[in-house]
Amino acid sequence: MYRTHSCSELRIADTGKTVTLAGWAGTIRDKGGLLWIDLRDRYGITQLVFDEAYTTPELFAIARSIGREFVLQATGEVIERTSKTTKIPTGEIEIKVSDLKILNAAKTPPFTIQDDTDGGDELRMKYRYLDLRRNAVQQNVIFRSNLGIESRKYLADKGFLEIETPFLIKSTPEGARDFVVPSRMNPGTFYALPQSPQTFKQILMVAGFDKYFQIVRCFRDEDLRADRQPEFTQIDCEMSFVHQEDILNTFEGLTRHLFHTMLGIDLPEFPRMTYDEAMRRFGSDKPDVRFEMDFNDLNALAKGKGFQVFDSAEAVLAINATGCAHYSRKQIDELTEWVKRPQIGAKGLVYVKYDTDGSVKSSVDKFYSPDDLKAWLDHCGAKPGDMLLVLSGEEEKTQKQLCELRLEMGSQLGLRDPKVFKPLWVVDFPLLEWDEDAQRFFAMHHPFTSPKMGDIPKMESNDQAVLKSMRADAYDLVLNGVEIGGGSIRIHDRDLQSRNFKLLGFTPEEAEAQFGFLLGAFEYGAPPHGGIAFGFDRLAAVMNGVNSIRDFIAFPNNNQGRDMMIDAPSPIDAAQLKELGLKL
Ligand code: AMO
Repeated sequence: MYRTHSCSELRIADTGKTVTLAGWAGTIRDKGGLLWIDLRDRYGITQLVFDEAYTTPELFAIARSIGREFVLQATGEVIERTSKTTKIPTGEIEIKVSDLKILNAAKTPPFTIQDDTDGGDELRMKYRYLDLRRNAVQQNVIFRSNLGIESRKYLADKGFLEIETPFLIKSTPEGARDFVVPSRMNPGTFYALPQSPQTFKQILMVAGFDKYFQIVRCFRDEDLRADRQPEFTQIDCEMSFVHQEDILNTFEGLTRHLFHTMLGIDLPEFPRMTYDEAMRRFGSDKPDVRFEMDFNDLNALAKGKGFQVFDSAEAVLAINATGCAHYSRKQIDELTEWVKRPQIGAKGLVYVKYDTDGSVKSSVDKFYSPDDLKAWLDHCGAKPGDMLLVLSGEEEKTQKQLCELRLEMGSQLGLRDPKVFKPLWVVDFPLLEWDEDAQRFFAMHHPFTSPKMGDIPKMESNDQAVLKSMRADAYDLVLNGVEIGGGSIRIHDRDLQSRNFKLLGFTPEEAEAQFGFLLGAFEYGAPPHGGIAFGFDRLAAVMNGVNSIRDFIAFPNNNQGRDMMIDAPSPIDAAQLKELGLKL
C-alpha cells in the first residue's frame, strides 16, 4: 500500500497512529539537528519531522538529500506539534518519520509551487504540469470537475440524454472561422471541427430524442480574449415540444441547482429584459445588473446651444456617477484618458458636477448656463454630491463606450462585488444583423433561429429597416455582465428555413449544398424544438468571481492560440503534407 491517508486527513485525534503518506516535497526547513518537510498531495499538506535526537543518521541523510518536488513515501507516528498553525487543517500534528522512501527525484522547478508563485504567465503555461500542482489551480480544476458532475445530475434527473456528436464535420461559412482538418482519404477535401453541435442536436430532435444534452468541446478560430479560447466547452442542450418559457425555466433551474450545490448560494430572481431595453439602458446585450447607473439620453437637452461636438452628434448619453462630485481634476483627467484609449475610442469626456452645496460645475460651462446643466442633472435623477459623465458621437459607438465607462465606474465605486450574483435573461434579440463590410445580413444568433411568429410576414420586405426590426425567439443568460449562455427556438419548417437562408443571402443551391442534410431532415417530421448552450468555462470562472476562463481549463492556450507546453501549432513534415495532398 502506497499510503494509508491523504495529506489533509490527520488530526490531533490521530496522535499515536502509525501512518504512511505519499506526495511531493514542498517547503523544506533545515535547522541543523531538526528538519521539516511539507508533504503535499491534492488534498492538502502534512508536515514531516526529522529530529537528530531520534532519527537514525541514515534516515537523516536521506531527508537532507531531498529537494523540492521530490516524490516521497513517508511512514511514521502522528505526534502533536509544538508550534501549531491554523493555516492548514493538519496544523496541529506532524509525522515523526521512521521510514522515508524517495519514489522519484525532481529537478528544481522553474517557479515555486505556491499560491503566490513567482512564475510569470508564459513560464507557467510552458510548465503547466507544475502550475497544475499549485493549490489555487488544483481547486479550480476540482471545481470544474464537480460542476460537470452536478450539471449531469440535474439534467439526467430531468430526463435529458447525453448523446455524443461528431468532431469531424462539414465546414460552413456562418459564425466564426472554422478550424479545418484535411482528409487523407479524400484528397483536396477538409473536415471542420464543430463550432457547436447545433445542426446535430436539431437532427437528434427530428430523430425523437426530445431532451438532449452534451458537455462538449467546441472550436472557433476567433481572436482571443480573457473570456474566449479557441477550444472551449459548452453544456449544450436541445428540447422538443417546448416554448421559450420551458427552456428558460429548465435552465434557470440548472443554474440555481449549480449555485446551490457548488456554492451554497440561492440565487435571486431571474428577471427578463428585452434586447432593446438592455441596449437603451446599458448599451449592452449583457448588462451587469449588480448596479443601476442607467444611461440617460441628453439629446433633447444638450443640442442647439452652440456646442458643436454635441450638436453634430447622433447621440449624447450620460450616466450619473453617484457620490462622485468630489472627484479631483486628476481623477477626471484619468477617466478622460481612460475613455480615449484605443480600446474604448471616445474622443473626450464631459462631466457635470453637482456639488453638495447645490452649485453646478462642468467642463462645458462656456456653452451651457447653470439652469441648462441643472435640467440635465434633474433629467438624470442626480442629487447633490453626484457627477454626470457624458459621451457623444455615433449612437452605437457611444453606447459601447458609455457601457465600458459605466462598468469602470461600477468597479471604482465598489458596486461589482464578485461574491454577489445577479442573473438576467435578455430576450427578444433581433433576428438579423447588418454587416456594413459584406453589405448583407447575418443571423444574429444563427441561421436556424426562429423569427417571432408575428414578424414572419416582415421576411418578405425589401426594406432594410423593416428587416432590422424583426425579432427572434432568441435569449441569452447573463450573469454579472458575462454572457453565460445563448439559445433560441428553432425553425422547424423547411419552407421557413429556406426563406431564412434566402434572407441571409444564400441561393437555394448554396443552402442545399451546405445545409441540405438539415433541410432534408425537416421534410420527415421535425418537431417544434429549441435549445440553449452555456459556456461551461465561463460559468466556472464567473461563479468564482474570476474574469479569465484560462484559470478553469487544465490545458489552455495562450493569447496567440498556442499551447506552450506541447508547442502547438507546429509545422508538419513534407511527407505528411504530401500524404494529405497539401503543399505550402
Ligand atoms: P453561442 O455561440 O452563443 O451559441 O455559444 C454559447 C455560449 O458559449 C460560450 N462561448 C465561449 N466560451 C469560451 N470561448 C469562446 N470562444 C466562446 N464562444 C462562445 C458563451 C456563449 O454564450 N449553438 C448555439 C447555442 C444554441 O443556440 O443552442 C451556440 O453555440 O458563454
